[in-house]
Amino acid sequence: METMDYNQIKQRAEAWIKEAGNMIKDSFDRERTITYKSHAADLVTEMDKSIERYFIRHINHEFPDHRVLGEEGYGDNITDASGVLWIIDPIDGTTNFIHQQCNFAVSIGIYFNGIGMLGFIYDVAKDELFTAEKNNGVYLNGQKLPMLQKTVLEECVFGINATWLTPNRRFDHTLLLPVVKRSRGTRSYGSAALEMAYVAAGRLDAYLTMRLSPWDFAAGKILIEEAGGIVTTVYGDEISLLEQNSVFCGKPGLHEQVMKELLSGQK
Ligand code: IPD
Ligand code: CA
Ligand code: CA
Ligand code: CA
Repeated sequence: METMDYNQIKQRAEAWIKEAGNMIKDSFDRERTITYKSHAADLVTEMDKSIERYFIRHINHEFPDHRVLGEEGYGDNITDASGVLWIIDPIDGTTNFIHQQCNFAVSIGIYFNGIGMLGFIYDVAKDELFTAEKNNGVYLNGQKLPMLQKTVLEECVFGINATWLTPNRRFDHTLLLPVVKRSRGTRSYGSAALEMAYVAAGRLDAYLTMRLSPWDFAAGKILIEEAGGIVTTVYGDEISLLEQNSVFCGKPGLHEQVMKELLSGQK
């Protein structure tokens, strides 16, 4: 992507995200159509779908050679990461959107040949827009955020959903119990995108989850790496952009410590 393109894409994306945020806020007073996807906790509303279609309409019109991967399936059939790829979660944290009308986000990661170029996570209810541009830092509502500094488990606030601390088929949950005992505290916000934005902004020191889809982590990965944090699977491997992955992200020092002291020896 040339510099010109890049700024233009950023400007457009930010304007569309703000507009999407207004559409979502306007919907708060209206009755919602809620349907289940794979099971009773896997919810989707008409807003998830219409926001995704809104982005795709604008992207197709303004950047016809760009491709889109979206959670609700209105984008392209993506099997490789070539060219400019927008990875969109129109509403991340749909359960929160329905139950709380806060703690959800619009999440967009823009990749060029598989490399993260621009990341946007917009907390609509709080009007907090986290953005990152490759080699240009992370911003919150236009204010540059500091680079992440090293920390240790004993001084950290750790993002983790209690599900992963109960017996589950993906992972030996007992490996994670020391996170609860040794950290200063654990938190769960119910939106992976926001949790990753909070890691990038230093509000959480780490976040770990056993299964995310590309639209859940695409923007957050760009933000955290740009802030100097580390993003891998729970096995310490690189994240595979177009697949479901476990995700363990956090500050330097802490990430290495948890990998070494708690997570080594699994697989
Ligand atoms: C979900 C949220 C949630 C995470 C789930 C995701 P959605 O996304 O990010 O925090 O634990 O794995 O599917 O469905 O609300 O966009
Ligand atoms: Ca969903
Ligand atoms: Ca999501
Ligand atoms: Ca979603």
